[in-house]
Amino acid sequence: MSQKEMIERAKEHLGKLLEQQFERIERMKQTKDFIKYDTLRPIVIGIVGGDGIGPYITAEAQKILEFLLKDEVKEGKVTFRVIEGLTIENRAKHGKAIPDDILEELKKCHVILKGPTTTPRAGDPWPNIESANVAMRKELDLFANVRPVKVPELGIDWVFFRENTEGAYALGSNGINVNEDLALDFTVTTHEGSYRIIKAAFDYASRNKINKVTVVTKANVVKTTDGKFLEVARQVAEEYPEVEWDDWYIDIMTAKLVDEKRRTQFRVMVLPNLYGDILTDEAAEFQGGVGTAGSANIGKRYAMFEAIHGSAPRMVEEGRAQYADPSSIIRAAAMLLDHIGYQEKARRLQMALDICGQFEKKIAITGRSTGATSAEYAEYIMNTLSDPGLEEKWNKYIKAKMPVEKE
Ligand code: IPM
Ligand code: MG
Repeated sequence: MSQKEMIERAKEHLGKLLEQQFERIERMKQTKDFIKYDTLRPIVIGIVGGDGIGPYITAEAQKILEFLLKDEVKEGKVTFRVIEGLTIENRAKHGKAIPDDILEELKKCHVILKGPTTTPRAGDPWPNIESANVAMRKELDLFANVRPVKVPELGIDWVFFRENTEGAYALGSNGINVNEDLALDFTVTTHEGSYRIIKAAFDYASRNKINKVTVVTKANVVKTTDGKFLEVARQVAEEYPEVEWDDWYIDIMTAKLVDEKRRTQFRVMVLPNLYGDILTDEAAEFQGGVGTAGSANIGKRYAMFEAIHGSAPRMVEEGRAQYADPSSIIRAAAMLLDHIGYQEKARRLQMALDICGQFEKKIAITGRSTGATSAEYAEYIMNTLSDPGLEEKWNKYIKAKMPVEKE
């Protein structure tokens, strides 16, 4: 192929991508309001096991949700819908990140609890299809990836608002190999897409009386797309005069999260997709690793809650899947409860998770037969939840852990 032909082919490819993005912007503009859960009867909770240890830990999280929502299920306010088949084998068979019939099933739910799904990459035994995670976020337009990280004794109380449908991820599987020498990927930032995530962050700060939003970009170098993100942030900030804000570059931000003096000043952070991916893994590490964090993927119509760790296929190969730690997906289940209007149940579940995982630790998960099974651990959490003195217990532990204040 001549150089001219290669350029023509690349232009054509880019043209198609632009068409798709214009369509996406139109769809975004049409979806104005968030769904109201208190008008739904029943609220349909989808349960998706995923791959590897996913089905094992997700089943335990489901047990806990069923335990907490026993009455609501009886009264017809809530119903569960288990969706099978979002496995790497089935996705590979269909050559699709999410096979059509499964996507249809997902769309019958209002909220989804999802186990980890294996993401193939070049060189794996699987076809190099798009990540099911990324596809679900795009298909259901789950634009706000909300990831809280809390370590009270270190004074860390962060909530990350990671943009979840644009940036380097939007066309991550649609780059161009122009020829053997030249590969191009694209990053996408739209006004609408930036506006809605930044607004979600300011809204959250304002609602919770948190007087600090930090916008993270690399706008000094990535001038067009990150530049737009920062520009939109300036506009949104004007709508919230009561919320102070600042902006940081991702490199120094990454450093400041380990700076004990500075990091406690950050509260709500909003950032483009890839920076958010990286920074939230770093942040979760202070709390005990990605295995301890839950993650909410929120859109105006659907919402999906997931563990932020992977599918750990090695645990399954070695016959240890029943010893996998279900904490992260149970945290995600707590976020789900909070999101659909059961804030008190969510709060109690969060406390029970803290007590079992960080304070009391009557039994522990080690990932092997030396520790508890996922099912035993879920049982422990449910017993803790049944204790009427749960809140007192939690307060006592938190107090004991906090650094003594100077007089
Ligand atoms: C996450 C994960 C995903 C991502 C992977 C599995 C595609 O790392 O949820 O942070 O990059 O978003
Ligand atoms: Mg990640």
